[in-house]
Amino acid sequence: MDLSSFRRRSSPSPSPDSGSARRGFLPAPARRFGLGAMRLNHILASTLLVLPLLATISVFYPRDGARRPPDRAAGFAEARVLDGRALSGNATPLVSDDTDSSSPPVDLPKNDLLGGLLAAEFNKQSCLSRFQSAIYQKISPHKPSSFLVSKLREYEKLHKRCGPYTQSYNETLANINSGKAIGSTDCKYIVWISFSGLGNRILTLASAFLYALLTNRVLLVDRGKDMADLFCEPFPEKSWLLPTDFPLVNQFQSFGQNSPNCHGNMLKKNIINTSTNTLPAYLYLHLAHDYGDHDKLFFCDEEQTVLAKVPWLVLKTDNYFVPSLFLMSSFDEELSKLFPDKETVFHHLGRYLFHPTNRVWGLITRYYQAYLAKADEKIGIQVRVFEEGNGPFPHVMDQILACTLKEKLLPEVDEKGFISSPPENQKLKAVLLTSLSSGYSEKLKDMYWEYPTVNGDLVGIYQPSHEEYQQTERQLHNQKAWAEMYLLSMSDVLVTSSWSTFGYVAQGLGGLKPWILYKPDNRTAPNPPCRRAMSMEPCFHAPPFYDCKAKAGTDTGALVPHVRHCEDMSWGLKVVSGHDEL
Ligand SMILES: *[C@@H]1O[C@H](CO)[C@@H](O)[C@H](O)[C@H]1NC(C)=O
Ligand SMILES: *[C@@H]1O[C@H](CO)[C@@H](O)[C@H](O)[C@H]1NC(C)=O
Ligand SMILES: *[C@@H]1O[C@H](CO)[C@@H](O)[C@H](O)[C@H]1NC(C)=O
Repeated sequence: MDLSSFRRRSSPSPSPDSGSARRGFLPAPARRFGLGAMRLNHILASTLLVLPLLATISVFYPRDGARRPPDRAAGFAEARVLDGRALSGNATPLVSDDTDSSSPPVDLPKNDLLGGLLAAEFNKQSCLSRFQSAIYQKISPHKPSSFLVSKLREYEKLHKRCGPYTQSYNETLANINSGKAIGSTDCKYIVWISFSGLGNRILTLASAFLYALLTNRVLLVDRGKDMADLFCEPFPEKSWLLPTDFPLVNQFQSFGQNSPNCHGNMLKKNIINTSTNTLPAYLYLHLAHDYGDHDKLFFCDEEQTVLAKVPWLVLKTDNYFVPSLFLMSSFDEELSKLFPDKETVFHHLGRYLFHPTNRVWGLITRYYQAYLAKADEKIGIQVRVFEEGNGPFPHVMDQILACTLKEKLLPEVDEKGFISSPPENQKLKAVLLTSLSSGYSEKLKDMYWEYPTVNGDLVGIYQPSHEEYQQTERQLHNQKAWAEMYLLSMSDVLVTSSWSTFGYVAQGLGGLKPWILYKPDNRTAPNPPCRRAMSMEPCFHAPPFYDCKAKAGTDTGALVPHVRHCEDMSWGLKVVSGHDEL
């Protein structure tokens, strides 16, 4: 069968609509529901239940079989065998939390590993999304640089050697107990504290990982309440989770700007400076939105030479601080080698790090198959309202409509019409709307039910969850939030809300430049309602405005062409590729 048909556009400049051209040859029902979707369902069914069915499908679609790319087919065949074996003993469905450690690692073709981004040596059943995401996600037109790929493989080796309870870890830990940094240690660490909402956590963890790559540190993740329930292990063999017996774990909550080991605080009190020889075994980095001027010195090159001597750095932040790393001369050169296409930082690191656990992957794939797979086009609309009151707000509804209709993301309705005869190229559009309130999707649903569209397209509106139902079970709440971000990332086009890290995660994972809904002012729909993003990178909401060399304030959004102020927050900073116009 033609596995490439499960994916959406596979190159940056595809033939405009090869999919619908092929649909033109099919009988009406197949056209209506989309052949790609039918195939996907068949495939999943066969993967799960009846292996011989695969043969049947290839008989039905012999021409597709001829066109099948050989490497993809091989990868899928392997996946099928493994899944089949796992299922033979019991009736466990596709998604199971059991880890079958007896499955040997399997070499997968490059495409399944996102162009070499992912390491091959993983057990399949423990994290199905790592391998199956290639079936659902389009192939990214943005290839990781070979420098990034080799840097990741190098990092994986480092993590294996220095990860939890290795000899190096145990030895470096002894520094903390002694209170001082003793000599130079074999391994150095950055410990990420679980802090703030899920969208923020995903962005800060990617920032911390980039910092680890740039400084040859090992990233260890405080598991907080639910990190292990949300994300698979991204590195082979050794966990990225900080051991629960790590000596400082119980202090994480209380760490703040005034903590004795806070980097900024020690600078402020002149306890450490660039000529200090005896540094503590650990420093706490306070990079949360409320950080002070001394904390911000983290982003100065000369401070990095001090920090490089400290074996343990413990980081608390709720911000995507990557843009400011691009302004530091110590990282400049390596960053341009890692990311020749500058706006792909979160896109690559996010897809490398964040694989939904099997539980979350079940939420994603069931929803996708039931509501989205059949559509010719998927439109994600992420609504986040930073206003008091519960909503839905009429001005927000107006804004959503103004944006999606003006930008022709959704078709207009014919308010005088009753019936539209289906035109030749009738398309089925699926809108995935996420919001705390169900009001916006209900309005849209009514609109497309009550009136025909002017072009005859059909529009289905789907909203997975809304907060009202989920106050009690926090854990499931975050799993659903993660599933929604991921589902949004599978859209063909995306509309996001200003200031929302939820939207940033979706656009970055999906490699999408969204239309951003401007933040409404004074409860009126802004005009224009939205604009296209300059880049798919997230926005750093609280960047420093400091010139380390001049020791004076400066506009950090005007220093280099590839770090600019954000579309949705005038004081924020984001990385752009540089070839886009302002
Ligand atoms: C590291 O220390 C732990 C106990 O804290 C121990 O179980 C483990 O075996 C040690 N690792 C090595 C390689 O000695
Ligand atoms: C640097 O810090 C040390 C204490 O570690 C202090 O004695 C010294 O005066 C400081 N130097 C400067 C230039 O502030
Ligand atoms: C906000 O809107 C109200 C009524 O629409 C108006 O009276 C008020 O002047 C507006 N405030 C600002 C700051 O524009």
